[in-house]
Amino acid sequence: MTRKLVAIVACAALTVAFAGASSADDNARGEALYDLCQQCHGVDGGGSQLALAPAIAGLEQWYVEAQLKNFRSGLRGLHAQDLAGLRMYPMSLTLASEDDVSAVAKYVASMPAVAQARTVEGGDAAKGAESYKVCVNCHGDKGDGNKTLNSPPLRGMSDWYLLTTLRKFREGVRGTNPKNPNEMLMRGMSLSLTDDQAIKDVIAHIQTFN
Ligand code: HEC
Ligand code: HEC
Repeated sequence: MTRKLVAIVACAALTVAFAGASSADDNARGEALYDLCQQCHGVDGGGSQLALAPAIAGLEQWYVEAQLKNFRSGLRGLHAQDLAGLRMYPMSLTLASEDDVSAVAKYVASMPAVAQARTVEGGDAAKGAESYKVCVNCHGDKGDGNKTLNSPPLRGMSDWYLLTTLRKFREGVRGTNPKNPNEMLMRGMSLSLTDDQAIKDVIAHIQTFN
């Protein structure tokens, strides 16, 4: 081996070692930051209806990051009637930097998804399948979501959270801030669900994806 090559190989090895160390630090940081989140989202990230906090374990990192950034910058959660959002907003401010946001988002994404009990009754999955046709383009036919379209997965979400969230979009409690185009877009879509029954129907259909 020439001396130059040895140097390059040594450099590469060092880079790998550093990358490994920093990602381990990241995980430890993310886990430490998650301590605060536990009280509402649960130790396992399975959520708590009582705390109005949805299941977040296993959500993809890009989506968790995007939402934490939205909360931190006041693009989500500040509507006067958004009880749940107003709880999460101040929590997001405890994350001091973008690095902290990424670290905790990475940790949340690494947690295994927690199966959700059914709590919403009275939905007709067959009718819901009809109204879900509008949703397919962005959320996918099995609710897997689509990062390119900023659309989160719907599969495996707590049904009570789907219900309150779709109501909030319809009522304009979420999705009326022009500085948040993704929410605005989703609010428009929520209006295709003409009443509470239609929301329950589409939820019943989403539950068939699990
Ligand atoms: C005081 C309770 C509380 C604490 C602590 C808390 N959250 Fe939340 N969180 C909520 C509530 C309530 C919501 C639902 C907001 C809504 O319905 O719009 C929420 C929503 C979220 C969402 C959006 C989920 C989605 O599907 O859009 C993410 C991501 C999130 N929290 C992450 C965190 C992280 C990470 C922490 C810790 C740094 C944390 N939360 C701490 C109550 C809390
Ligand atoms: C044109 C694309 C598009 C279509 C069609 C669409 N959505 Fe969405 N949806 C989005 C985007 C983008 C978001 C993320 C909004 C944000 O960043 O806060 C979203 C968010 C959501 C959320 C909130 C998720 C959470 O974790 O808080 C629910 C629930 C939802 N959509 C359900 C539906 C349903 C049900 C339909 C069909 C009636 C539908 N969407 C149609 C783009 C779409």
